Amino acid sequence: MSLLRMTDMSLSFGGVLAVQDVSFDVFEGEVFSIIGPNGAGKTTLFNLISRLNDADSGTLYFDDWDITKTPAHHIAELGIARTFQNTELFEHETVLHNLLIGKHVYRKTNLLSEFCFTPRVRRQELQFRREAEDVIDLLDLQHYRDQIIGNLPYGVRKMVEVARALCIKPKLLLLDEPSSGLNPEETEDLSFWLEDINEELGVTIIMVEHDMNLVSRSSNRIMAVADGKCLSIGSPREIQSNAEVLRAYLGD
Ligand SMILES: Nc1ncnc2c1ncn2[C@@H]1O[C@H](COP(=O)(O)OP(=O)(O)O)[C@@H](O)[C@H]1O
Ligand SMILES: [Mg+2]
Repeated sequence: MSLLRMTDMSLSFGGVLAVQDVSFDVFEGEVFSIIGPNGAGKTTLFNLISRLNDADSGTLYFDDWDITKTPAHHIAELGIARTFQNTELFEHETVLHNLLIGKHVYRKTNLLSEFCFTPRVRRQELQFRREAEDVIDLLDLQHYRDQIIGNLPYGVRKMVEVARALCIKPKLLLLDEPSSGLNPEETEDLSFWLEDINEELGVTIIMVEHDMNLVSRSSNRIMAVADGKCLSIGSPREIQSNAEVLRAYLGD
């Protein structure tokens, strides 16, 4: 079943056609990667899916809902979470706090009851903490849980961002260049975590990624884009031997 469907979507910035008539489906349970040269429109595709940008034309469906015009602040509630190409965390807060902040979209209490700290709020707070701790355990971040983000190495911050995204219990996780800035060992770890997130938690993943080893190893299917257009969609093997894809990367 298709979890996400984009049809004929386009977006231009001034004269730049960042995304042109792109259509694709991502199926439930898949790891789907988007590859392409710099400036190809990959991040813009993520911005369209997470509704940070409005498309000029085209439609977007998630879980059979038309989300073409859904406001960005409702996207997390629907079950779509993302990380950013450059991490966006609260620098002066601890790892645990960053995760708890990420959970606020699930808060089912009102402001007055929160202010009075009713038993219900307390129960919910405890549950949030347990769930955040589960994500910390899953991604092996125990050692860092009480450390301030600003003091952490880049590779750890990237994993904290993934953890924060997981805290909203997404059905779909969008990862923008998860391996950029990671060393080979961290990239290897990342590939195992992606597998756990996908298989153990059952989360569908779309990732924009440059590391072709990671992409080939982790993805069920790959979409290659260039100049805002979809060149081809296929298995890692199909994409690696696709003449048009090779031309976009290597030139004629
Ligand atoms: N907010 C924006 N304003 C103007 N141009 C933009 C904006 N965002 C992206 N672009 C342009 O759209 C094109 C695609 O960018 P982007 O989606 O970031 O590419 P990628 O992530 O594949 O490197 C580029 O030419 C970029 O300069
Ligand atoms: Mg980008």
